[in-house]
Parts: sequence; structure tokens; C-alpha cells
Amino acid sequence: LENGVARTPPMGWNTWNTFGCNINETLIKQTADALVSNGMRDLGYQYVVVDDCWFDPNRDGAGNLQANPSRFPSGMRALGDYLHARGLKFGIYQVPGAKTCAQSTGGYPGATGSLGHEVQDANQFAAWGVDFLKYDYCNGSGTINDQVATFAKMRDALRATGRPIVLSINSNSFHCCTGPQRNWSDVANMWRTTEDIINRWDTGNTNGYPMGVKNIIDVTVPLAGYAGPGGFTDPDMMVVGRGGMTDTEMRTHFAMWAVMAAPLIAGNDVRSMDSATSTILKNSRLIAINQDSLGRQGAQVANDNGRRVLAKPLANGDVAVALYNPGSSTATMTTSAAAIGKSGSSFTLTDAWSGAVTTTSGTISASVPAHGTVVLRVGGGGTTTPTATTLVSSSSGRCL
Ligand code: GLA
Repeated sequence: LENGVARTPPMGWNTWNTFGCNINETLIKQTADALVSNGMRDLGYQYVVVDDCWFDPNRDGAGNLQANPSRFPSGMRALGDYLHARGLKFGIYQVPGAKTCAQSTGGYPGATGSLGHEVQDANQFAAWGVDFLKYDYCNGSGTINDQVATFAKMRDALRATGRPIVLSINSNSFHCCTGPQRNWSDVANMWRTTEDIINRWDTGNTNGYPMGVKNIIDVTVPLAGYAGPGGFTDPDMMVVGRGGMTDTEMRTHFAMWAVMAAPLIAGNDVRSMDSATSTILKNSRLIAINQDSLGRQGAQVANDNGRRVLAKPLANGDVAVALYNPGSSTATMTTSAAAIGKSGSSFTLTDAWSGAVTTTSGTISASVPAHGTVVLRVGGGGTTTPTATTLVSSSSGRCL
């Protein structure tokens, strides 16, 4: 979406994965302070997103949304000010239907969705200083036409406020579809591609709730053709630091999100992270690959029984390569400079985890542990036209 924001994948933190409906302003403020003091803000984690359950179950007499007074006694404008004063940005959650997802499952009272209040709510968000809206398709009819129309209504209402606001949509909340359905870059800055993530490697679901990291990777890799400045495929918020997976699997999660140009939205409690989690989320080499100004999603150039090689062209001519091994044993994975879109006869390979630099005349090879991912930044030589790599792009939705 050309609205001036999200020129690279948005980075930040969201309440939902760890806290669900259990949120309040103290938690948000403590999280904001932690993002500043632990260095995450300065690495790019800017958007602090307050997900479902922040609002009063009733609109006021004039139909305006209100903060839940016991959870957010200072109000949302004050919360936005708190974040802005710390160099952070303010994100909030709402739906195009009558009820939010939590309201529709009975997890929260009321029916305060934006349906019929789009302009009023967009103006309210702008007045509160909101910089990011997660707009979650709950309670709609489920048809693609209704989705496009209701998302576009909010897109236009946000634009009319004059405030640059990232529009993050989820078209999957009626538990029907995974996959792209369409290229949403005309409507939103980022769009979910799957059912909700859970902190597991493999739930066996490719089109059902909940989805593990491996399952989400399988759905997201084929969508490489859609990403670019202003619009990114969103494989959901991260579960790094949430347990339930090995450190190797957590590293794969972060590495693949980085190379897939996914928004990097942390979902763990950043007030108390162990060192493995902190090292993963703060990997500046992977963040640089993710935040590269070309905004390209790594495209698959090989797939050997699920062991995938992804190549992500970068603005300075380097190419980031991910060697992803979902298999149950260590594998030597090999590709070549030519296969990833590099010309020439001498290249440097920088390992994104260790920082170790090696050289090669063309062969790119590494031993990759089970469920592991090696990421190498390939420099030197020239770059062939990036589109010369095999872009695997799919436009087929699963059910619409
Ligand atoms: C849906 C979304 C989640 C979260 C919840 C909130 O399930 O996919 O990311 O926003 O709603 O109720």
C-alpha cells in the first residue's frame, strides 16, 4: 500500500501471544521501557501493538470507542504519548465486523467492532496518535468481495485522517483459509497468510488452527512474488522466547522470518528474556537482511524433499541465502552463486549467526542440523537480474 509507511517490514511487539486478553497500561509501559533499555528499539523494534481486549465493552453516547477504564485508566491518548516520548510507535487492534475475535468467542464482552463506524474509529485512532492498526477479519461473511470492501473502507478512512498509519490485516480470522487468496498490497501494508501461530514446530496443520513454525513456512515460501516496499506477507507474530521449541527451531523461526521479509513482531515477554531469546531477537545481521530496502521476500531456488534454499536479493548487490532443513537429521546442503543470482568467480560468505566469513569460487555449502537454518550473506562478484532466480509464486487461495 502506498501510504508512505512500512517501506521495510514493520518491527515491534504485540501483546497477544503471551498475554492474550490480560492486558493493561502498566504492562504496555513496562514493555516499552524494556524495549528501550534492552536495545530492541534501537535495533528497529518500534511498534508496540495493543491487541484485542483494550476497549470498553460499550461505545460512548456519541458512538466513540473508549479505553477499558480499569485496564487503561489514563486513556489511549496518554498511552500513545508515553510510547512516542520513548521513540516508539503506537499500535492498536480492531475488526471490520461487529465483534472482535475475543468478543465473538465470548472471551470479552460487548460488540464494539468497526462495522458502520469506520470513519469515526479511524478519526479516533488518529486523535490518539495511533501509528499502526491491526485490522482482524472477524465476523464477516467470509467472501473475498466482502473482505476487500471492508478492508478498503478502513484503508480509505485512515488515509483521510492524514496521519500515516500502517494497516495490518488478517483475512484468516473466520477460520477458513490459508494462503494468499489474492495480492493484498492494494489494500494493506501487511497481510496474514495463515491461521494463528503457536509455539510448536509442527502441528500437522497446513490449513487449520493452530499452526507451527514449520507449517507456516510451508505456506509462506510460495508467496515470494508479493512482497515489496509498502506491502509484506505476514506469517504471524513471532513465538521466539515462548518455549515449546528447541533453540535450533527458534533460530530457524527467526532466520526464516527475516529472509521471508516478514514483519518482525516479537510476541514474548520482553521484560524478562533468557539469553538465547535475546541473542536471537537481536541478531543484527538477520535484522539487516530483513530490513533491506529492496523489500524482497526470499524466493525458493531449490527444494529437495522439503529442504529448501531461499535467495533474497539485497540492495547493495549481496544476496542472502537460507539453507533450511526441516528433516530429522543433519544434512549437507549445497547451492551455487549462479543459482542464487550472482555472477563472477569469487565471493564472500558471511554466516548470519556466527559472523564467520569464508570465501568461495561458487559453491555454497553448509552442514545444517535437523530443523536448523543456515543463513549466509553472499557478497562479491556481480548480480544477475534478481528475477532470474526462480520465483515460486502462487496466487491460488485454498478455499475462496
Ligand atoms: C485472531 C488473530 C490473533 C489475535 C486474536 C485476538 O485470532 O489472528 O492474532 O489478534 O484474534 O482475539
